[in-house]
Amino acid sequence: MHEIECSLLRPPKITATRAVDMGARYRAHHYGLGMTQRPEHSALDLSTLAVTKGRPPREPDAPLNTPIVPASSFIAGGPTEYAREGGPTVFAFEEVIAALECAERTRPAQAVAFSSGMAAADAVLDLIPVGGRVVAPTTTYTGVAVRLRELAERGRIDLTLIDVTDTDAILDSLTTGVHTLWMESPTNPLLEEADLATCLPAARSAGVRTVVDNTFATPILQRPLELGAHVVMHSATKSLSGHSDLLLGALVTEDPELAEELRTRRILLGAAPSAFDAYLALRGIRTLALRIQRAESSAQFLADKLRSEPAISRVRQAGTMVSIEFGGDVARADRVCHGTRLWAHATSLGGVESLLERRRRWPLEAEHVPDDLVRLSVGIEDPSDLWADLAHAIAAA
Ligand SMILES: Cc1ncc(COP(=O)(O)O)c(C=O)c1O
Repeated sequence: MHEIECSLLRPPKITATRAVDMGARYRAHHYGLGMTQRPEHSALDLSTLAVTKGRPPREPDAPLNTPIVPASSFIAGGPTEYAREGGPTVFAFEEVIAALECAERTRPAQAVAFSSGMAAADAVLDLIPVGGRVVAPTTTYTGVAVRLRELAERGRIDLTLIDVTDTDAILDSLTTGVHTLWMESPTNPLLEEADLATCLPAARSAGVRTVVDNTFATPILQRPLELGAHVVMHSATKSLSGHSDLLLGALVTEDPELAEELRTRRILLGAAPSAFDAYLALRGIRTLALRIQRAESSAQFLADKLRSEPAISRVRQAGTMVSIEFGGDVARADRVCHGTRLWAHATSLGGVESLLERRRRWPLEAEHVPDDLVRLSVGIEDPSDLWADLAHAIAAA
């Protein structure tokens, strides 16, 4: 997958609005920054922003890192009083992820952190009016797919499923009073890619709210706000935090009123992240660019090797992920998953450690995912070591 250049869309400038960024308010209150004042970062690379954002001001004796502030309640009179509204550590995490996803790197975006990716997804879905029409990929991540289906079965939403690679079908679906277009690209675990640069502006022009689950690509490889998305969603559990040691979600938008609505969802749904998890995620994001570069190049290396393996019938690769099939031989796929030493047989993805699993071992995984498909989440170990381990497991299976 290639980094997407982002000069296609130039959305209108944000004008004055009632809604304000809680993190900005907090920093203004404690650090004396003007509420609209943001350090100019349009010239900085994403790898620099990942390291420099979300830190305390540089004052004598100030800590270099944002501390973990484990408080549920704050002394009255400031911008945040209760931890469901946020807190210093959560705001610091939000500041970094907003800067990374920020459109054209000059427009202010706001991030709202949630207790998990699913909690973040649910906050967006909660904004859809009763009976509202939603268009979503058939092959979206299982948790979101099941949740969408559940909401449709209860009559809460009117759901249309589309092939995320069929741009014409997506464009056709936008003409019929759709409220939300939910996109995931690349999809989990089929690694299909949508033409976001075409679909997002078209949806925006049609008055449809667009949400992109950017968990797989991360802002290092793809920034949907720059292509016209209203909301970017993350399971920060995965590559953003990168160490498989927390659950966290995030939503990012340039629309201040939408950000305020989403923050209100967090408060009312009670889906607030812990300060400790926000701290760990912040620490993980510092190395995001390096980790993604390394994992993506290893994924390409492994995909090339796997393509010449006779036992493997299909190889898909996008970003840091690879999915392989074993010509329908499910037992063999299982033996490979149990036969590696370096690769851990475990679910999830985006960590420094390489993981593999056969996705259909999960009862809720959709039937269109081939039974023998094994998803590989490539970590940052030496790629030759990873290949030697995988090749040995495949040969022994
Ligand atoms: C693409 C994608 N979106 C959302 C989620 C849900 O995130 P979480 O597990 O943090 O709730 C996942 C989890 O695997 C995912 O892979």
